[in-house]
Amino acid sequence: MWSPQAPEDPLFGLMAAFRRDEDPNKVDLGIGAYRDDNAKPWVLPVVKKADDIIRNDPNLNHEYLPIAGLADFTSASQKLILGGDSPALKEKRVTSLQTVSGTGAVHLGALFLAKFYKPKSQRTAYFSDPTWPNHFQIFSNVGLSHKTYPYFSRQTKGLDFDGFYNSIQNADEGSIVVLHACAHNPTGVDLTQDQWKKIAEVIRAKKHFPFFDTAYQGFASGDLSRDGWAIRYFVEQGFELCIAQSYAKNFGLYGERAGCFHFVTAPSSDAQSTVGRVASQLAILQRSEISNPPAYGARIASLVLNTPDLFAQWEEDLRTMSGRIIEMRKALRSKLEGLGTPGTWNHITDQIGMFSFTGLTEQQVLKLREDSHVYMTKNGRISMAGLNTHNIDYFAKAVDKAVRD
Ligand code: LMR
Repeated sequence: MWSPQAPEDPLFGLMAAFRRDEDPNKVDLGIGAYRDDNAKPWVLPVVKKADDIIRNDPNLNHEYLPIAGLADFTSASQKLILGGDSPALKEKRVTSLQTVSGTGAVHLGALFLAKFYKPKSQRTAYFSDPTWPNHFQIFSNVGLSHKTYPYFSRQTKGLDFDGFYNSIQNADEGSIVVLHACAHNPTGVDLTQDQWKKIAEVIRAKKHFPFFDTAYQGFASGDLSRDGWAIRYFVEQGFELCIAQSYAKNFGLYGERAGCFHFVTAPSSDAQSTVGRVASQLAILQRSEISNPPAYGARIASLVLNTPDLFAQWEEDLRTMSGRIIEMRKALRSKLEGLGTPGTWNHITDQIGMFSFTGLTEQQVLKLREDSHVYMTKNGRISMAGLNTHNIDYFAKAVDKAVRD
């Protein structure tokens, strides 16, 4: 067997390089995983509680889950993302399958669209430029072609709304438009509600198919409804769409791979039969790929989502994570401004969620790594969660130096 050598995954490669580095001052701002103020992984207190309850349950076993996953988990996931009073739920227009985290959900959705959405020549997917790099691989692996729409303005370090809007308007009718529901990865730049409404209008006018990727609900702003607003708005507007939902970040369940895929069909007299047919095909795809999903992470999330006092504690934990990140944004901006570091730094506090797109060039990124043992992706993205009260001065000074050199 011969195959060409493939490049190492940039993010996991960076993580490995960081682990090999023996410098005591090294700073990991690479992969998007929450860290506490001591740069340590944080098991959410509510997850610890749920874990204890599940482990002590005398009825716990390790049987297979159904193909579509744990029913209490998928129904709670629907309510979480769509809102308990969603018209789509009342009208039974949603089908959901538990997946191998958000990646598995994106994959299942892409696979389904590759099989059933329009003839091959007419189904291009549009990603934001930039996007989470795995989107490209997942879609091309299932044979969907892709293009990008402008998203980030290098001048303002904010949204290039006109570029985005025009590109969606000029895309072939019926294209798949992949949208980050909140806390855009990698830029941390989100649309305002008015901008979402305009994008929804053009998506409707061009009969495009919206595909939402949501990995940061509650993690971004600390407010679950606010972070779910865009998806709920599109559903209220009656779109047919799909949603890839991850619980890696907002539950800190990174390695447990808990996620969910939702297909929401448009209101119509045969909506329920459409959903039934979609569900039957998704079940076959799931069975042939993973048979049935892993149970443990879903059990934890399900217990929390379905138990009011645990749910309230989860919201508290979300505010702890988002609050610390917001503090780090404020501190970093003020330190860079205090140092008089050339450039403007308001984007650090304007952007939201796990990441900030600093505007640092690839050369500056490499210099930061060589001189200061700071690890971040080459596009200048930093995981804000890697900053803490102990390393933020060091990092700000390192950036100042790299920018001036
Ligand atoms: C990231 O972008 O750092 C995370 O979403 C981790 C991943 O799987 O790429």
